[in-house]
Amino acid sequence: MWGGRFEKGNSTDVIAFNESISFDKRLAKQDILGSLAHTKMLVHTQILSQAEGEQIINGLEKLQKKLLAGNLSFSSDYEDIHMNIETLLQQEIGPIAGKLHTARSRNDQTATDMHLFMKDEISQIINLLDHLLKVIVIKAEKNITTLLAGYTHLQHAQPISYAHYLMAYYEMFTRDLQRFKTAKASADDSPLGAAALAGTTFPINREFSAHELGFGKVYQNSIDAVSDRDYLLDFLSASATVMMHLSRFCEEIIQWNSYEYDYIEISDEYATGSSIMPQKKNPDVAELIRGKTGRVYGELFSLLTTLKGLPLAYDKDLQEDKEGVFDAIDTVKACLSLFAGMLETISVKKDKMAAALKDDFSNATEMADYLANKGLPFRQAHQVVGKLVHYGMEHHLPLQEMRLEQLQKFEPKIEADVYSILSPKKAVKRRISLGATGFTRVSEQIKRAQEKLFH
Ligand code: ARG
Repeated sequence: MWGGRFEKGNSTDVIAFNESISFDKRLAKQDILGSLAHTKMLVHTQILSQAEGEQIINGLEKLQKKLLAGNLSFSSDYEDIHMNIETLLQQEIGPIAGKLHTARSRNDQTATDMHLFMKDEISQIINLLDHLLKVIVIKAEKNITTLLAGYTHLQHAQPISYAHYLMAYYEMFTRDLQRFKTAKASADDSPLGAAALAGTTFPINREFSAHELGFGKVYQNSIDAVSDRDYLLDFLSASATVMMHLSRFCEEIIQWNSYEYDYIEISDEYATGSSIMPQKKNPDVAELIRGKTGRVYGELFSLLTTLKGLPLAYDKDLQEDKEGVFDAIDTVKACLSLFAGMLETISVKKDKMAAALKDDFSNATEMADYLANKGLPFRQAHQVVGKLVHYGMEHHLPLQEMRLEQLQKFEPKIEADVYSILSPKKAVKRRISLGATGFTRVSEQIKRAQEKLFH
């Protein structure tokens, strides 16, 4: 393609090192679409004649059909997807194919392909997230009154509704959805027509080709158009965050599925056995999702590092943007889809969850609030209940099982009505502040989510 200036060809190891067709063949569909739009624009602006345009378009459409049928093969002799498609076009329609590259460069081409590709892939990820949100909300609705120990520092803190816990993840994944929408919006500028970096002397119409390709906007600076990879960073950063959320959720699933917690059971379809220990049922899927979070973080850092210190405009370093992004796409898609399936089929051991609240002193705050309501400053109430808990632990006696006289020795303001607020169910029910775990509040959260997701 550039033979004119050269006396010698590349050695085979240089060819192998330089090529990107082994991975950017994934952009074949977008590359043909970009060329179709570019050709239509060249005809529209009379840079190419109608007849020339028709020949090129026919050839590209043939390639498109072959690609769909799986009959297009690429070669590393032609370095990347752009040169492969152009070579195939030449084989299809002859030297007229050479007119396609008027007023464009591979620099705006690779950027155009990648923008189109990302818009498509991010839409798929948004759909997967939407499905996961639905799974969460359906599960939450079935578990509004399921009691669970709420933890801080991995210590029993206060009783909560299991649905409330699930809805916390609903909130996180809703923010992720927004982040992916933002990433998709940042891929919505068309770089096509920026050419190598400086624009072109041909009277092109960049809005025309952008419109053909479904872009909302065009880059306003041709140097930025070929150098910008922010939209990929937006995507990778949204990916890193959603993986972090999935990983936290998985960590809890792994723990809760253990013999020690025994709060849930992962369904057989999402667990694996051991080749030596017949009793084992391992949470491999959850562990792999947690594990794969690392590589997605790595891909974000890899691209940030690639970009750091790059002079404007295009440098070959930018070819390194693709493999990490492709891997992040595959990883995030697989993890979202598998996680949703795993969560949907997890069985919840409501009795075990409730049993963990029986004598864990997680109702101590109830007692402190009770005393504060009786007029004790909260700090003093905290002190009194702390002593009660200490006493209770020594005598293996939960607060609700202490006799009234015993309680009154610690604080005479305690009366018989104290017993009515000490059950975990009451503790949850009475928490009705905005966003709290109270059943009515959680029902409201679920209702709001249902209206958003199912209408
Ligand atoms: N394969 C290249 C990439 O992915 C395409 C652009 C090449 N441009 C160039 N001037 N060498 O970045």
